[in-house]
Amino acid sequence: MIGVLDGEKIHHDIDGVLNGLVAAGEAKAKHRHLAVTHADGKRWVLVGLGKRDELDAEKVRVAAASALGRARELGAGRLCWEVPHKVGSEIAAAIVEGTLLSAYRFDRFKSKPPEDNGGPDALVVSAHDDLTAVVTQAQIVARAVNAARNLQNTPANEMTPRHIADAARGLRELKGVTVEVEGREGLQRLGMGSFACVAQGSAEEPALITLQYEGPNASGPLLGLVGKAVTFDTGGISIKNANKMSDMKFDMSGGAAVLGAMEAIAELRLPVRVVAVVGATENMPAGNAVKPGDVVTAANGTTIEIINTDAEGRLVLADCLTHAVNRGAERLVDIATLTGSIMTALGNTHAGLFASDDDWAAQVAAAATTSGETVWRLPLHDDYAKALDSDIADVMNVNEARKAGSSVAAQFLQRFTADVPWAHLDIAGTAWGTGKPYAAKGGSGWGVRLFVELARSLTR
Ligand code: BES
Ligand code: MN
Ligand code: ZN
Repeated sequence: MIGVLDGEKIHHDIDGVLNGLVAAGEAKAKHRHLAVTHADGKRWVLVGLGKRDELDAEKVRVAAASALGRARELGAGRLCWEVPHKVGSEIAAAIVEGTLLSAYRFDRFKSKPPEDNGGPDALVVSAHDDLTAVVTQAQIVARAVNAARNLQNTPANEMTPRHIADAARGLRELKGVTVEVEGREGLQRLGMGSFACVAQGSAEEPALITLQYEGPNASGPLLGLVGKAVTFDTGGISIKNANKMSDMKFDMSGGAAVLGAMEAIAELRLPVRVVAVVGATENMPAGNAVKPGDVVTAANGTTIEIINTDAEGRLVLADCLTHAVNRGAERLVDIATLTGSIMTALGNTHAGLFASDDDWAAQVAAAATTSGETVWRLPLHDDYAKALDSDIADVMNVNEARKAGSSVAAQFLQRFTADVPWAHLDIAGTAWGTGKPYAAKGGSGWGVRLFVELARSLTR
């Protein structure tokens, strides 16, 4: 695999074959353009990377995905990528990420193994400098993203809250990681009436999962990551219609991203301290389910009038945020497939970013830019909070007007952040089916890379 940059010669040619291909116009610098030739007993894929001064990691991830697609058509088992000369290490990392993410397949439930297993058997990264560390780290991150995608794609009959908790417990084998799990009784004991009411109508035991990571020579603020892991969201008594309801197995994507991030951060041995809280439950209708009009009390004492049981994510997150604050989090980010409205606003390209603190918002946004998981900041405002004034309780979980649904939801969450600098990522549009060339179908693992970058930024 050789990248073609606009106006530049290919450095390691085979008797002029490769530059000849460029000169003939068969290989082009146009981004993602592909040309194939045979020389020196090997096959060469020339991949357009555009202009050098416009080159960034995301373009390279996408180009690497295209190149892998062609290599697979050619039946190549071993790939060698030549890193373009004089680029930053993020470009080599992007080659690894783009390749490993697009090689991902979820075929566990196919009774016959598909012919295309995603491939390749091996990826060799060729460069003038020693990139061992960069490549190893990128591989750790890509594998953690793919692990999150496995959690996402696994159907909800298997991916129950208990199964999410088991996945979290599996991280105990990583140095510096501790994992605690509380069930229904624990939620009651901790006064988490908000989280508990969502789980109330489900036969599956909910799981409040708390992970802690203490890196070597860790410094900086205690980072709190909070993830929504509703393993299936029927809407509850305010039941959803049947249209695409099967997608609601992905309503645990925030929790999957948090687990993937903890895996990567711990494997990378980043010198940071993290407390992660994942709230896992089903949201089911049942004879004993929470009903519209019920009032519950959250762990921080806030009373909530449940107007719509389908606005369950914020109820779970409310108590998980309080829990992260109680565990001493000094910076908070939550991640959740929270509102359909965010898809209306931003589609599948950006996640919604809401934040109570401009510096923290900027740090999260910078991590998003580096990771290629783009975000767009949307407003928090006291007027959105007023929309949730209840006649009989402190707050309602939704208002019937349904205007600015994502901002109103974020405003609800802010009540549970105890003034700790907090950012909220609404990933309902980006968690699956993004159509990105390296994550075309199913779960995208969105957020894992962003959280790794955020943790890295705390060490600088
Ligand atoms: N999990 C959904 C949000 C969602 C919807 C994510 C579609 C991805 C695709 C969430 O729990 C929900 O149901 N939100 C409601 C809130 C409403 C009742 C205020 C929504 O967005 O419709
Ligand atoms: Mn819902
Ligand atoms: Zn939901």
